[in-house]
Amino acid sequence: MTNPAVIVLAAGDGKRMKSQTPKVLHQIAGRSLLGHALAAARTVEPDTVVVVVGHQAERVGAEARALCPNVVIARQDDIPGTGRAVQCALAALEAVVPERSAWPDEILVTCGDTPLLDGATLAALVEAHRAGRNSITMLTAQVDDPRGYGRIVRDGSGEVAQIVEESDATADQKQITEVNAAVYVFRPESLLRALAQVDRANAQGEMYLTDVVAAVRAHGGTVAAVTSADPAVIDGVNDRIQLAAAARKLNDRYLRQAMMAGVTVVDPATTWLDAGVELQADVTLLPGTHLAGATSVAAGAVIGPFTTLTDTEVGPEATVAQSVATSAQIGPGASVGPFSHLRPGTRIGADTKAGAFTELKAALLADGAKVPHLAYVGDASVGEGANVGAGTIFANYDGVTKSKCLIGPAVRIGSNNVIVAPVEMGAGSYSGAGTVVRGDVPPGSLAVSAGPQRVIEGWTVRKRPGTDSAIAAQAALDRAADLPNSSGSTPDAHPGNV
Ligand code: UD1
Ligand code: MG
Repeated sequence: MTNPAVIVLAAGDGKRMKSQTPKVLHQIAGRSLLGHALAAARTVEPDTVVVVVGHQAERVGAEARALCPNVVIARQDDIPGTGRAVQCALAALEAVVPERSAWPDEILVTCGDTPLLDGATLAALVEAHRAGRNSITMLTAQVDDPRGYGRIVRDGSGEVAQIVEESDATADQKQITEVNAAVYVFRPESLLRALAQVDRANAQGEMYLTDVVAAVRAHGGTVAAVTSADPAVIDGVNDRIQLAAAARKLNDRYLRQAMMAGVTVVDPATTWLDAGVELQADVTLLPGTHLAGATSVAAGAVIGPFTTLTDTEVGPEATVAQSVATSAQIGPGASVGPFSHLRPGTRIGADTKAGAFTELKAALLADGAKVPHLAYVGDASVGEGANVGAGTIFANYDGVTKSKCLIGPAVRIGSNNVIVAPVEMGAGSYSGAGTVVRGDVPPGSLAVSAGPQRVIEGWTVRKRPGTDSAIAAQAALDRAADLPNSSGSTPDAHPGNV
C-alpha cells in the first residue's frame, strides 16, 4: 500500500483578513497557518506534498519550502476556486510523477486555513477511506453556527448527496448544521474525472472542489463522511476574529495537554503556549506567562507572572518572574527577575541570579554567579561564585567594535562600576564602589579608581543660603553647638538617618 499524496490549498487571497500578509502566513501559536496544516499532514507520512499557491505566490511558496524542503509547489492560474486549485495541484503532481501507475492510491486534500485540524483526525480519515474503499471520504462536523461553511446535503438514505456553499444555499439548506471541513481523501481517478466536469455556474463564479461530491455520486461512486467528534478541529480562519478564536482554541488544547502531563497552570486564560513548547511535570506557570518558539522548562521550575520566554531553555527548580528571555539558557535552581531581560546567547548556570532590573546579552554566568540588581552585562563571562555589584555596567561597545570581558571565579565587583571592555579581572579580585575598571586586574587584587572623598565644612549654609537644605543644616549645627561635648555627629543630630 502506498502512502497518500497530500495537497494543501493555499492560493486564496484571504480578502476578509484585510492584510498585506497572505492569510496562510498569519501566525498562531508561533507557526503560520500553513505551518499547522503541514504539521498535521506529516502524520500520514505523505509520499508527496503539494502546496497550491497563487496570491503572493512567492511568499507562500518560500514558507512552504522552508517548512517542507521536498514540497512540490503548484501555481494556480487565473481560474478561481478550490476545484481549480486541486486541478493545478494534480497537474504539478503529474509533472513530478508522470507514470499514472506510480501515483498513490489516495489523495488527501486539506486547506491552509484550518490550523486546528490535527494529525490524528487526518490519519483516522485515511483509515476510514481505506476500510470503506470509497471514492471520497470527507470530514464533516456538526456545529451550532454553520454560517460561512458549505452545508452537507444528505439524500433519503442518509448518504452525502452534495455540498452547497453558503452563497448558493436555499433558506432551507442554510438551516443545515452539518458542515464541510474541506478535508477529503480522494481516489485519484474519481477526482480527476469529476473535476473535469466542474464548472463555474455558482454565485461566486468559482470552480468549487465541493462540486466533485455530486459529480462522483452521478458516476456511481461512493462518498462517505466522517463526522468529527470535536467540531473545533474544522474551524476555518477567514478573518481576524476567527484567527483569534482559533489561536484561543489551539492554546486551550496545548494547555490541556500540559495540565494532563502534570503542569500547574494557575490561570489558563492568560497563559499562552506555542506549538513547539516542551514542559516537564511539576512545572508551575503563573498568570500572564507566554512561552514561545522552542522553549522548554524542566521539572519544578516556576515561570511568571507576566513573563515571555522565546526559544529559551529553563532548568529544573529555576524561577523566572516578570521577565523576558530570548534564546537563553537558564540553569537549574537559577533565579531570574523580577524585571530581567535575558537577550540572545545568554547562558546562566546552576544557582545563578539575574535579579531585579538586570539586562544580560551574550553573557555567561558560571554556577553560583550573581548579578543581583540593576546591571547590564553584555559580552562577558562571569566566573563561578562571582558577584556583580548593584548598578554595574559592562561597557562592551566603544562605538565601533564590541569587546568581551572575562571575570574570574569569586570576583567581587563593587557597586556602580563600569567595566570597560576588553578587560579581565582575575580570580578572587575585588573592585571598590564606583570603580571604572579600564585595565586588567590581577588575581586577588583590589582595583579602586574613585579619588579620596573631600569634605568642605559649612558649604551649604554659605553657598545655598535660605534653602531648605541650609535651614536644616543650620538647625543641626545649632543643636550640636548646644550639646555638651558635641562633635555634631551623634545619630540624634541626624534625624534623617535610619
Ligand atoms: C471552503 C469550502 C467550504 C468549507 C470551508 C471550510 C469550497 C468551495 N468551499 O470554503 O465548503 O465549508 O472551506 O473551511 O471549497 N484556495 C485556493 N485557491 C482558490 C481559493 C481558495 O487555493 O482559488 C484555498 C485558500 O487559500 C484556503 C482554502 O483554499 O486555504 C479554502 O478557501 P476559502 O476561500 O477559505 O474557502 P471557504 O469559503 O472557507
Ligand atoms: Mg476558508
